[in-house]
Amino acid sequence: MARTLIKNGTIVTAVDQYRGDILIDGETIQQIGTSLDAPADQVIDAAGRYVIPGGIDVHTHMDMPFGGTTSSDDFETGTVAAAFGGTTTIVDFAIQDFGKSLRQGWETWMAKAEGKAVVDYGFHMIMREFTPELGREMKDMVDEGVTSFKLFMAYPGVFMMDDAGIFQAMQRSGEIGATICMHAENGGVIDVLVKQALARGQTEPKYHAITRPALAEAEATHRAIKMAEIADVPVYIVHLSAAEALQMVTEARDRGVPAFAETCPQYLFLDYTNYEEPGFAGSKYVMSPPLRAREKQSEMWRGLRGNDLQLVSTDHCPFCMKEKELGKDDFSRIPNGAPGVETRLMLLHDGGVRTGQISLNRWVEICSTAPAKIFGLFPRKGTIAPGSDADLVIWDPDKKVTLSHKTLHMRADYNPYEGRQVTGAAETVLSRGRVVVDRGTFTGQKGHGKYLRRAPRA
Ligand code: URP
Ligand code: ZN
Ligand code: ZN
Repeated sequence: MARTLIKNGTIVTAVDQYRGDILIDGETIQQIGTSLDAPADQVIDAAGRYVIPGGIDVHTHMDMPFGGTTSSDDFETGTVAAAFGGTTTIVDFAIQDFGKSLRQGWETWMAKAEGKAVVDYGFHMIMREFTPELGREMKDMVDEGVTSFKLFMAYPGVFMMDDAGIFQAMQRSGEIGATICMHAENGGVIDVLVKQALARGQTEPKYHAITRPALAEAEATHRAIKMAEIADVPVYIVHLSAAEALQMVTEARDRGVPAFAETCPQYLFLDYTNYEEPGFAGSKYVMSPPLRAREKQSEMWRGLRGNDLQLVSTDHCPFCMKEKELGKDDFSRIPNGAPGVETRLMLLHDGGVRTGQISLNRWVEICSTAPAKIFGLFPRKGTIAPGSDADLVIWDPDKKVTLSHKTLHMRADYNPYEGRQVTGAAETVLSRGRVVVDRGTFTGQKGHGKYLRRAPRA
């Protein structure tokens, strides 16, 4: 078993910041101390660098059939990109098909990832419908380590479930210690607005945002929380984008209701005006929920600081421009999603920590520790402690990077942040003790990533 010693770094966790050395034995951290001098097969000098727990992105869509095409990263390319960005764990979404079992969906996604992923991965399960049989199967999935289920209040005919189905899935998740992850947008209202816009000949990308108003997100968020309160279970709102929806989460949490939410970098660093870029460029930002008004972003940052938003994931769902062009004459046909798994830590370090919006510890917390805790991976993942997996990132806080699809590793022919300069980047990345990125070079191995059986709620 290889032993690695990381020396002289500044170890940063969700709560600590101190100079120290880390001894890794095989796949896990063995010892942390000052001036450690144990024999090791390799020594990494981390002087002038932070050593942080590997990022955990609990919202990715690799190799996902969606919007008339398939997301362009598979589990190999997507996890290579994740590793370059300092993310060493992803939780992706397996999909149950209409009339099919949860197990079939899970096995399909296990086959997509197995032998390909270069860092560890787990799965949530998207349920398109609720039946008593699927309710029984939810427990089997929890036993397999799929301890969260994503339901949709939007995308009628594709993913949307009615309130009765949602409520029963919530009740069942309460019985088995699972978490309901909710895509909270009012799909019925949006569908009408989309049809009305198209009938008026409003086909450009910006109408994607105009027909998905913040109040449609707020209404669905409120309804999801109320249904969860009736079912007496926690609920987790995914990719929250609107300050109006955040108010619903904040109001519930202030009453002691177990409501949780994530946001994504795009809702902190991009805004509605991106849809007004010339020609068809606005399609690059077509995702659901859509980008919102810049004036509202300060409320999102306040939510992150105050823990009404517990974490930041990416909703990584990349498409190339030729796929986006499926919606050239009709915004509702533009595949929804954008690349992001590689840029999350950089954007939040540069635009969050360096600007004083969040502390260094909070950065680690929202990118790694909170996702691990909420989704049943802690303390194996999400911190730096003896016995934890040696998923570690040696972070150069001064490195300047110009974000571009030409140099990033995600499989997309554009980047939403093209040309943006950030300071701070992953230098060396370890996944279970193995160096997978070494100062700009990929040194990992296809298939090194292991499936993670996540724990149910305690
Ligand atoms: O636009 C998005 N968010 N694409 C991925 C699917 C989803 O709803 O998360
Ligand atoms: Zn969603
Ligand atoms: Zn998503």
